[in-house]
Amino acid sequence: ASSASSASSASSPSSLLQPHHRHHHRCHLRLLNGQQWRGVSTSTAAAAPPSSSSGEEHGPLMLHPKFWQTLDDSGGPAHFWGEQARRHITWYHDFHTVQHHDTDRGIVSWFLGGILNASCASNCGRCNNVIPVVKPTNYSELHAHSANSQLHLKLAGVKQVSYSELHAQVCKLANVLKLAGVKKGDRVCLYMPMTPYVVYAMLACARIGAVHSVVFAGFSATSLRSRILDAGCKVVITADEAVRGGKRIPLRQTVADALASDGCADLVSTVLVQRRTGVEGGLRAGDIDLIDAMAKERPYCEPEMLFSEEPLFMLYTSGSTGQPKGLVHSTAGYMTQAAVTHRAIFDYQPGDVYACVADVGWITGHSYVVYGPLANGATTLLFESIPTYPDSGRYWEMVERYGINQFFTTPTAIRRLMKDADEFVTKYDRSSLRVLGSAGEPLNPEAWKWYHNVVGDGRCDIIDSWWQTETGAPMLAPLVGTNNHKPGAAMQPFFGITPAILNDDVRSAVLRACVYRNPSMARTIHGDHERYTSTYWGVYPGYYFTGDGARRDEDGHLWITGRVDDVINVSGHRMGTAEIESALLEHGGVAEAAVVGYPHDVKGQGVYAYVILKAGERVTAETADELKAAVRRSIGGLAVPDVIQITPDLPKTRSGKIMRRILRKIAANQYDDLGDVTTLSNPEAVTAIIDDHKAIH
Ligand code: WTA
Repeated sequence: ASSASSASSASSPSSLLQPHHRHHHRCHLRLLNGQQWRGVSTSTAAAAPPSSSSGEEHGPLMLHPKFWQTLDDSGGPAHFWGEQARRHITWYHDFHTVQHHDTDRGIVSWFLGGILNASCASNCGRCNNVIPVVKPTNYSELHAHSANSQLHLKLAGVKQVSYSELHAQVCKLANVLKLAGVKKGDRVCLYMPMTPYVVYAMLACARIGAVHSVVFAGFSATSLRSRILDAGCKVVITADEAVRGGKRIPLRQTVADALASDGCADLVSTVLVQRRTGVEGGLRAGDIDLIDAMAKERPYCEPEMLFSEEPLFMLYTSGSTGQPKGLVHSTAGYMTQAAVTHRAIFDYQPGDVYACVADVGWITGHSYVVYGPLANGATTLLFESIPTYPDSGRYWEMVERYGINQFFTTPTAIRRLMKDADEFVTKYDRSSLRVLGSAGEPLNPEAWKWYHNVVGDGRCDIIDSWWQTETGAPMLAPLVGTNNHKPGAAMQPFFGITPAILNDDVRSAVLRACVYRNPSMARTIHGDHERYTSTYWGVYPGYYFTGDGARRDEDGHLWITGRVDDVINVSGHRMGTAEIESALLEHGGVAEAAVVGYPHDVKGQGVYAYVILKAGERVTAETADELKAAVRRSIGGLAVPDVIQITPDLPKTRSGKIMRRILRKIAANQYDDLGDVTTLSNPEAVTAIIDDHKAIH
């Protein structure tokens, strides 16, 4: 697996390997030959006509015949990414080697020798351009808290930030961080609401070479603490309160709870607090008032010179085991792919208004609220609220108000909104929309059709993109303008991506989705490179293993079949079942817990917990609530079980392993399809669990 050469020289890890890249390049070539990149179905008045000359700043992406040549003949994806990196990133110093991989040791590196700074590529690099605007949706729910929330909404303004203001604010915040002693390589924890300050904070870290670790502001104090400790963050940036869907969320209080342990209190030297609501007592003794501190700083901060492989950020996500993984992303590889994919997958054209309504606490927010759009000088929108507040028309009202061209949300939001009357959508003018994006979980055909027919009036491209925190950007997505979409997940690899469907042995029916090399792949797990190497590169040597299953249909399209490990995806929030189990065990009365996902009509997957209480524990009316509270305390509201089934026993193998396969089937009401239960040490447990399950439902 060690080579510094191009992807096309890779040898197959097993005879079952079905390399996909040859096929898909030819396929795309045929598809696009002689056509324009924008294709046939998507143009609207808002779209700038694509230019045909290569090398031009705003020309159509990747249609130059040279690309096809390079993909097919010389150098393959590596050559492609090399060209893209030079085209989309502002370099202080060019790189000398496009990529070097030694995956046996978990070494993934791109654009070696290059020197850059992400905050410059994204804002300084644009300072001389015509000024696009960052538009936060700041309906200012601040005022919405009081008695008649809907009334106050009208009063609220929208904050717009120009690129030059963004640049100044980033520099000021960077200077504040320097004053607090933050140096290159230091980790900074961001536990913040969706306002421009979180973007300033991310880019300020990037500017001085610090590594931001954004923790979604819905995580509990316990989760926050373990992430601060694991990353070794000496500085935490937060806000007094967040405002979401008309509710105030006491972020500073949660940070205080997180720091209320010796280890964490000793580690964190500085807490910077953004006054979001200005609530009394929002700042505590010793806190630095972020906005005041920024006001005192000079709007200039020399950017740190970073080598390509130096980290840009880390972001925690869940794996099969209890301990979340702090995935570390590189500066150049990540930036390149975020920029290219933002432009090509979502068909961003200069002048477009692009809206990804994800929270920056997730990878989608990193790549498609912040880094991708800003690298392209785009107008990007920050969404601070929830899709159903003040009513289910919120998104579409925004589309009308801002003339949004690309709108990007999650399947969960779509499924939630389609339960309400279509009128919430249709009463707003959506003619500006060209592309409707989705990511994070499977977009089931019903939701796909509603998104396409109702939201998009049947004329927009639905871009269901498959990717992960680890990959940084989509690996698979349909191509805009090809009219070649299949509702429900049929996808094609993005340019320069080489997926492979691999198999352990001939008899196993489980096919796994793997990916060859790409620039935005995470480089390590913070503090545990061994885990990174073995989890991702140790399963199929030379290939990154995604943890998802996949199959290929007769047209060569890929279908993702879901996780093949103990990770579940609830409303697009990825969690390990082991994390929820240990949260349940925090409740003193629990002897054993087994958590599985089950089909849920809005969330995609719901959390189903089977719990054995300790001997002598009585089940009371409060038991379920107490157990839920334990999970809320330990992880956060997003992980709280939808169903808790107290059970006297769990099905186990003779070696004592819980048979989750059976529990999953029962939770999904598939009693008849349990497979072989004779190998269990306690087959009678299954019958008892089924009876109780029926009683619950
Ligand atoms: C799942 C979110 C089906 C998948 C960007 C993956 C999807 C996990 C899709 C990563 C999709 C993501 N269709 N499944 N379009 N996108 N997934 O790290 O199981 O939060 O492994 O990244 O979500 O979740 P993560």
